[in-house]
Amino acid sequence: MRRHELVIIANRLPLKRSGRGAGGWERSPGGLVTALDPVLRKRGGLWIGWDGSSGRPARAVEHDGLSIKPVGLVPRDIENFYHGFCNRTIWPLYHDAIKPAEFNQRWWESYEAVNERFARAAARHVAKGRTVWVHDFHLQLVPQILRGLRPDLRIGFFLHIPFPPEEIFARIPWRTNILHGLLGADVVGFQTWKDAQNFSRASRRMADAEGVDSQLTFQGHKIRVNSFPISIDAEEMEKLAQLAEVQNRAREIRRGLGNRRIILGVDRLDYTKGIEARLSAYEQLLESGDATVSKSVMVQVAVPSRESVPEYAQTRQRIEQIVGRINGEFSHPGSIAVHYFRRNLEREELAAWYLAADVMLVTPLCDGMNLVAKEYVSAQINGGGVLVLSEFAGAAQELRQALLVNPYDVAGMARTIRRALNVPRAEQRFRMSILRMVVRRHDVQEWSDTFLSALERS
Ligand code: ADP
Ligand code: F6P
Repeated sequence: MRRHELVIIANRLPLKRSGRGAGGWERSPGGLVTALDPVLRKRGGLWIGWDGSSGRPARAVEHDGLSIKPVGLVPRDIENFYHGFCNRTIWPLYHDAIKPAEFNQRWWESYEAVNERFARAAARHVAKGRTVWVHDFHLQLVPQILRGLRPDLRIGFFLHIPFPPEEIFARIPWRTNILHGLLGADVVGFQTWKDAQNFSRASRRMADAEGVDSQLTFQGHKIRVNSFPISIDAEEMEKLAQLAEVQNRAREIRRGLGNRRIILGVDRLDYTKGIEARLSAYEQLLESGDATVSKSVMVQVAVPSRESVPEYAQTRQRIEQIVGRINGEFSHPGSIAVHYFRRNLEREELAAWYLAADVMLVTPLCDGMNLVAKEYVSAQINGGGVLVLSEFAGAAQELRQALLVNPYDVAGMARTIRRALNVPRAEQRFRMSILRMVVRRHDVQEWSDTFLSALERS
């Protein structure tokens, strides 16, 4: 069996099994895949993860230039580990506890067992003394288990979502086990410095780690803690936006929408993304009868996600109700107020929508980073466009020239959308040139270089 210099391990593989599409695979949704796919393509290595199916793991395969090794989840794991502990305990709790987290001993036991399975898979496939890079909240126990199995390795961990403040984290009955799991890594990385501080404080208070926020010691082992804001392959998005067919498609989209000003939202269909409040803000604007707004159209593209989790089904229902209500009141024959597409778009199609949009609404209630904001900025090769961005997205730390909003303040968001529709062209260009520079300078390759060299030095 081939052993790799670099193993990336994440719950998701870049591809998931599907009944349709090329050879039964389709791209997995979400920011983790968007970021890690170009990194692994450039560096080479193995990606270990779940292929979204239930059953026994398949053999390692080469697919479309990537080496992937599926880890199997049986229906019980999917229910208890993925839908349960990952998506109904950790996900809501780490996102500001915006939905109540459920604590269930059976889910926890499944989380432990699945983390053990992932750690064993990584231990089998990595070369002596080399690197395993563990990703996201599904696998917080892997660093410690892996260190026990393979003390020769360098182990990095990166959390793609926020790490909550101590008082929220403290609610988890298994909080110390989770901290011990993470403290098995040599480098623990977060999206923002605030997340890193939250982790270090929790580790000192609940896991007997010692040290300062940027460097902890636990059981004689040193752990570097830092922020590494994740990014996108900006060059790839720029290249897509330059393609003649993408530009033609963007023109076609605009024509198809009656050359109205396009206000766009693109998200996984997740309650953290603030889609309902965003739609309500647009509804308020339509009610106000504002002239600029009546010449606009809102488009919301939402890719289905975690549909078996009840909170996601409820969120979908609420969104569809609001869209129905707005269209009932404000659409006319040939002029629909809100277009809602519940689907996964191809990258070219997505780039065309970004190019066509005058205003991009990225208004999560809480988000680790948000790569959609960075993709929109990169696609603005003509220098126009306005990004409206939630203060509570990690991306707001870097994208200061966006129009920042509090997504809980619906009236405030409505005012900002109106302002976005009226930003003069020169100001649009000025803001966008700075935003584009930030994303180009801090792209995903820089992110992975910075993380992996911190790991190399640890
Ligand atoms: P998250 O990781 O929570 O899903 P991000 O904004 O960081 O949020 O990343 C989402 C990724 O998924 C982006 O790369 C975006 O292009 C992609 N995406 C989101 N919605 C869609 C969609 N409807 N069709 C295709 N890709 C989508
Ligand atoms: O970036 C957050 C994230 O949870 C990733 O870890 C995940 O791959 C993505 O969103 C999509 O969610 P899921 O893997 O549950 O479909």
